[in-house]
Amino acid sequence: MKIQFHGHACFSIITEDYWGNFHEIGKHLLIDPFLTGNPMAQISADELNPDVILVTHGHHDHIGDTVSIAKRTGCLVICNPEIESYLNQKGVTNTHGMNIGGGYQFDFGIVKMTSALHSSALEENGQMIYMGNPCGFLIKAEGYTIYHAGDTGLSHEMTLLGNANRIDVALLPIGGNYTMDVSDAMLAARALRAKQIVPMHYNTFPVIAQNENFYSNQLLNFGIPCTVLKPEETLELA
Ligand code: NI
Ligand code: MN
Repeated sequence: MKIQFHGHACFSIITEDYWGNFHEIGKHLLIDPFLTGNPMAQISADELNPDVILVTHGHHDHIGDTVSIAKRTGCLVICNPEIESYLNQKGVTNTHGMNIGGGYQFDFGIVKMTSALHSSALEENGQMIYMGNPCGFLIKAEGYTIYHAGDTGLSHEMTLLGNANRIDVALLPIGGNYTMDVSDAMLAARALRAKQIVPMHYNTFPVIAQNENFYSNQLLNFGIPCTVLKPEETLELA
């Protein structure tokens, strides 16, 4: 499995299963595809061809280019029911709505929707559209468990998640202001007991400027490996 960072909270998770001699059945899962207008993005939305998009909440820096990518590729979109109906109204028909605490077995693996302490709405044409509850995702595929926290403050749910799951990689926001900052994301990492942390949701805008290397070093002091990915860098799990 490969985890590729595209800046902000956008990641590709690429599974690498093979079936038979030549036929690849690996899947490309794309989380929170905010590329257009993302100062950190090195690629455009047109360059991504996911099989599945997962959307954590309705804020523009997360739902991002979901509509255009989903319409072009016909990929499945996994999100909460309110974002699902928004997408359906926009002509995106291949959707799977689920809600917090629920899990579902897809062909590539299991996705469980986790809680996030945040909000979720989208401003469009001067109107605020309700986009349901924000979430994170626990993704189990190829024997790995990946946790994308979404936008969230520190929560006690993370202790439960850490007790109930052997998380291989936790993607955690560290930018502060809208989400956990470095010190709360330290506590989150310990609660989750993840084998490895990848920080996200920082430095995209001045208000979420953070020192990711300080975070990484602090985690190392607690014996928790942390991989800082620059946009388009990849973490390969073996
Ligand atoms: Ni948000
Ligand atoms: Mn955000």
